[in-house]
Amino acid sequence: MTGRAPQTLQINLGDRSYPIVIGAGLLDDADVVTGHVTARDVLVVTNETVGPLYAARLLAGLAGKRVRTLELPDGEQYKTLAVLERVFDALIEARLNRDACVVALGGGVVGDMAGFAAACYQRGVDFVQVPTTLLAQVDSAVGGKTGVNHPGGKNLIGAFHQPRAVLSDLGTLRTLPPRELRAGLAEVIKYGLVDAADFLAWIEANVEPLLALDMDALAYAVRRSCEIKARIVAADEREHGQRALLNLGHTFGHAIETAAGYGEWLHGEAVALGMLLAADLSQRLGYIGTTDVARVRELLRRAELPTTAPAIGAALALDLMGMDKKVLQGRIRLVLLRQLGAGIVTGDYPAEALQATLRSHFEVAA
Ligand code: NAD
Ligand code: GLY
Repeated sequence: MTGRAPQTLQINLGDRSYPIVIGAGLLDDADVVTGHVTARDVLVVTNETVGPLYAARLLAGLAGKRVRTLELPDGEQYKTLAVLERVFDALIEARLNRDACVVALGGGVVGDMAGFAAACYQRGVDFVQVPTTLLAQVDSAVGGKTGVNHPGGKNLIGAFHQPRAVLSDLGTLRTLPPRELRAGLAEVIKYGLVDAADFLAWIEANVEPLLALDMDALAYAVRRSCEIKARIVAADEREHGQRALLNLGHTFGHAIETAAGYGEWLHGEAVALGMLLAADLSQRLGYIGTTDVARVRELLRRAELPTTAPAIGAALALDLMGMDKKVLQGRIRLVLLRQLGAGIVTGDYPAEALQATLRSHFEVAA
């Protein structure tokens, strides 16, 4: 497999099915861009970092259409309702109608916000994801979750709204700060841990090429991650069941992100640590062994992801975990590991075991 030849996967959701195109140099391929952005009126939503790097290339492929570009401020702290208003202002100012298309050019923050704006504007317009971070290419751009944060919790305000296409140009990852690449790698590791022991072993064997931006390794990692996500989302689009597996590490991670203040810990970093806590709890419950937990820790260490929690205290961590959307009837449902490569979603665990995990991580100074 080569990172340069585009590959297309399909996410099967009936009349909302769509392709995920993966390849290096897609942004410069006008046939790919216009083949998937078919509307005449287009609002490209990007941010002040990604816009200057990639908007001109994307716009060249959209020549002949009526295209406006909106640059949002860069950062998780701007993923708010207040900043979202700027997208609505731009759509209204340009007098765009229901046949317009919103194109999200950027990482997960831009994608979640542009997607949410597209979900709401005139009760829903088309949108296309052009993800430029590894995290967005393997996770946030796929599956239709959109939204913004609230001071009370991450992603609390949002909607399911599937894109019309996802165009993942692997070449954009070359300008990604290494810390952001590593954060994306956390989500890749997540797929191996919850769904595919063979993929987990492949990641263990390929951490260094991935960190070194080897295009073939990235192409395989993005494709395999998207295949897993596409299958799970196709079976459970609205997260009534197995889609929750994709939240391995997220409930712990959201507590870390909220306690630290949005933007301090990257989402993927918080997820990485959250996966270690999930492994710890899984071990306390007898699902996996201490050597498995050590294997998770070692992989995160090699991927240069955090393995030490901030000392926010177990009580605050539990409180913030309770604000997560995975709470059902007062029980915090968690994704745990039945074995490495097989996750389970459960609210059925002794509260003391969770407390012990939280105490052992959050009450030790970072
Ligand atoms: P991000 O969007 O903040 O991007 C990370 C940083 O990289 C930003 O500074 C951005 O400007 C910069 N950047 C993006 N592409 C670049 C490039 N090619 N070159 C140089 N710089 C570039 O962060 P992220 O990790 O992509 O996404 C995190 C967000 O995604 C969080 O808000 C999280 O809640 C959300 N998320 C959503 C889902 C979902 O299903 N919708 C899933 C996972 C995460
Ligand atoms: N990031 C988890 C999901 O899309 O369901």
